[in-house]
Amino acid sequence: MKYNSMKRIMLILCGLSFASTQGMAQQKINQDSIRQKMQWFADAKLGIFIHWGIYSVNGVDESWSFHNKKISYADYMNQMKGFTAKNYNPQQWADLIKESGARYSVITTKHHDGVALWPTKENHFSVVKNTPAQRDLLKPFYEALDKNGIKRGAYFSLIDWSHPDYPGFLKDSSRYKVADNPQKWQRFQRFFQNQINEINKAYKPDLWWFDGDWEHSADEWQSKTVRANILNLKPGAIINGRLQGYGDYETPEQNFPVTKPKFNWWELCMTTNNNWGYHPDDTNYKTPFEVITIFADAISNGGNLLLDIGPKEDGTIPAEQVHILKELGKWNKKHEEAIFGTLAGLPQGHFYGPSTISKDSTTIYLFLPGQTVGNIMLKGLDNTIKDIQVVGTNEHLQHKIVGKVSWSPIPGLVFINVPEKAKDPYMTVVKLKLDKPVKLYRGRGGLS
Ligand code: GLC
Repeated sequence: MKYNSMKRIMLILCGLSFASTQGMAQQKINQDSIRQKMQWFADAKLGIFIHWGIYSVNGVDESWSFHNKKISYADYMNQMKGFTAKNYNPQQWADLIKESGARYSVITTKHHDGVALWPTKENHFSVVKNTPAQRDLLKPFYEALDKNGIKRGAYFSLIDWSHPDYPGFLKDSSRYKVADNPQKWQRFQRFFQNQINEINKAYKPDLWWFDGDWEHSADEWQSKTVRANILNLKPGAIINGRLQGYGDYETPEQNFPVTKPKFNWWELCMTTNNNWGYHPDDTNYKTPFEVITIFADAISNGGNLLLDIGPKEDGTIPAEQVHILKELGKWNKKHEEAIFGTLAGLPQGHFYGPSTISKDSTTIYLFLPGQTVGNIMLKGLDNTIKDIQVVGTNEHLQHKIVGKVSWSPIPGLVFINVPEKAKDPYMTVVKLKLDKPVKLYRGRGGLS
């Protein structure tokens, strides 16, 4: 082989390996910066979701009621006349959210019905222009959140069934097909990009909660551009996973993951009764005990809970929802160290209940399911326990190691007797301080 061609090959090879290490380094930087920006979210654990819109006037399903033809589109939009926001007290909302223990809150800036809660400059519906509320409802809410140290979240529906340039409308009829009228779709793209930019500039959300991506592809939603525009203005902004592959975390809805989801970050969004928006006929509320049990399960599996409330048209929050948030707040306050800023708990099989682990891994928090106290058992803990305390009390407990065989390295079982007097009305939490970072035996027993 001639020297020149050898040199060329060498150069190509060097170039390749340089390019790939550069690619890897780039990937690492992206990973690290994503981890960094996701840290507050991972620590936050609880967010409050707010579905507020004209659907609260008659208490019908948000947007879906006309889409699914439960009521006519005209009747649905007629609710605009009754949306007053006359008792809206954003500071009270923010105070209740704070009291619940939540660290972020996500409000519907616009649902699939297309009615914006802010003064959009686009030629389309808004509560400012089309309802007696006549004002920007987002600004004072976000300011109240800031005051309380709660992160700003913006729900934004990509779908806009009211917009004349949007293809979808009722469940069995649509206006046109994108392929048949690309100009019309492009007009819609300009419209939604403008609305997103308006929100971005005016309120700089810490978190974007897109919805409705299922109706179109990433290309059609220009997901890449949406993401880039958001991050250009606010590099630390977090984007949920409903942007056709361009989001930062998963959003299981209403259904509970049974095993720990694989994705790094996830958030369960869940209603307090069966509906997102205000629905006076829906009295099927979850009890505070149920909400707390679900919340503990989410954080044990490394996720967050985004718990929804649906205020009335005048801005008051239904009493049942206030009650849930307050009770949850009491429990959160008492058990703060076991919840916020912790990591996902023990893998399944070690303890029959949810758990979390402190960031330095030297403390385990065991959440006693179903309000049980009494004898609890922990398997495969290869640590010395320094201290056991019932969280939020001065109660310190003893433990017994059962079944430890002197010649075997396999740890014995830990039994802890939790007395009745230490019981929390909702869920008791026991804290185990260890000698060193948690070490688990994951073998099959016997000699292994
Ligand atoms: C669904 C629904 C919507 C609701 C949302 C909240 O995607 O379309 O009505 O706002 O879930 O997660």
